[in-house]
Amino acid sequence: MSTIGDRDDLAPERLWDPFDPAFRADPYPYYDRLRTEAPAWRNPLGTVVLTRYDDVARTLRSNDFSRDVEANATPSDDPVAMRRRQRRANGSAKTILNLDPPDHTRLRRLVTQAFTPTAINRLRPRIEAMVDEVLDRAADTGSMELIDELAFPVPFQVISELLDMPTERGDELRDWSQTLTAALEPTATIETLDAADAAIGQLAPYMWEVIEERRRRPGDDVLSGLIAVEEEGDRLSPAELISFVILLYVAGHETTVNLIGNGTLALLRNPDELVRWRDDPGLDERAVDELLRYDGPVQHTVRVAMVPTVYAGAAGEPVEVAPGGTVLTVLGAANHDPTVFADPHALRLDRPNANRHLAFSAGIHYCLGASLAKLEAAVAIGRLIRRFPDLELTGEPHWRDRITIRGVDRLHLALS
Ligand code: HEM
Repeated sequence: MSTIGDRDDLAPERLWDPFDPAFRADPYPYYDRLRTEAPAWRNPLGTVVLTRYDDVARTLRSNDFSRDVEANATPSDDPVAMRRRQRRANGSAKTILNLDPPDHTRLRRLVTQAFTPTAINRLRPRIEAMVDEVLDRAADTGSMELIDELAFPVPFQVISELLDMPTERGDELRDWSQTLTAALEPTATIETLDAADAAIGQLAPYMWEVIEERRRRPGDDVLSGLIAVEEEGDRLSPAELISFVILLYVAGHETTVNLIGNGTLALLRNPDELVRWRDDPGLDERAVDELLRYDGPVQHTVRVAMVPTVYAGAAGEPVEVAPGGTVLTVLGAANHDPTVFADPHALRLDRPNANRHLAFSAGIHYCLGASLAKLEAAVAIGRLIRRFPDLELTGEPHWRDRITIRGVDRLHLALS
């Protein structure tokens, strides 16, 4: 990892600057400096950026914070923030991701069963077959581009099968999802938000078509289950149904692709660890937790304070957040906090406490798809490194211009 340790000219504004390409390429040295110098830091837009594990974990688990920015954050006069608010107000229903209890509890309960570790483990043989099919094809050519050939298609196919969604329009769906998630970036402009609205304008009617078709011919998939609940009456409104399906669908493949991409890259850069995992299938679970800790796909999330809250900032000075104030919980920084993870920038697949990572958040919004994402990554990466013991990176990986959802968009591998 690069170092910025000798650059004492960097003010906090330069330590958390999503517009800086160096920060986007490798945010971890910046997080370290921020955690040491100003662990709770109010950025120019007034959001308090938290980089210490304890602050991040406490905030995510607290009932004194809301995830519903639109309803509870003090309106800001920043034009992009205003546009975001307007979008949310005009848009379809909120999803579980940005609702508070009791609505969050009601909606989350409807799908929890489909995503328990036991339910997910039933998908293992199917995921193994999909991965092997990709690896067989790659073996014939001797090389592969990991993102397009394995990291995207497998999670995409799995979530499509879970919801029983047609896959013919895969390319368009991938574009729409990427355009939608670009709106989550702190660098988003009015144009980014317009593009996201246009994508929703195409994605939503397509989803309605699928939903209407499924109403006529229900199956035993997750989507049919949700439609049945909607038809029963007051537990799920039609607007909630479509928002929910879009969230599951987008969350179901926009993130896992980056776990497989970032994770494989981390292993190729730490060949001893790669060999350690290859030779010990018993490490699967812990290895994936360590990859999530080391370079997770979701780098931060947001909360709104509902009561006055105080954090310790630079030199222990209090940083106060009034009700309606927003805080950015930087998951990637918490996961590299040396007070919790010894030697945090080292990849150690047998790290005893790797599962304390916050890559899936914590508290009531803890990722619904965590078991699925971990299974997909364990199968995809585990089988890739065992099938091709001489795996090598060819060319330089290319990082996407994103920091909320972090990942590479190309990873070329030689297999023999
Ligand atoms: C490596 C892959 C993944 C990562 C790193 C990830 C990360 C996250 C994070 C950080 C949150 C919480 C955000 C917050 O607290 O504000 C979250 C929530 C969520 N994730 Fe994931 N996710 C992944 C894969 C998936 C998959 C495969 C699915 C779907 C099937 C999924 C569905 C969801 C849903 C529905 C929520 C909202 C949960 C709630 O608010 O109660 N995720 N995810």
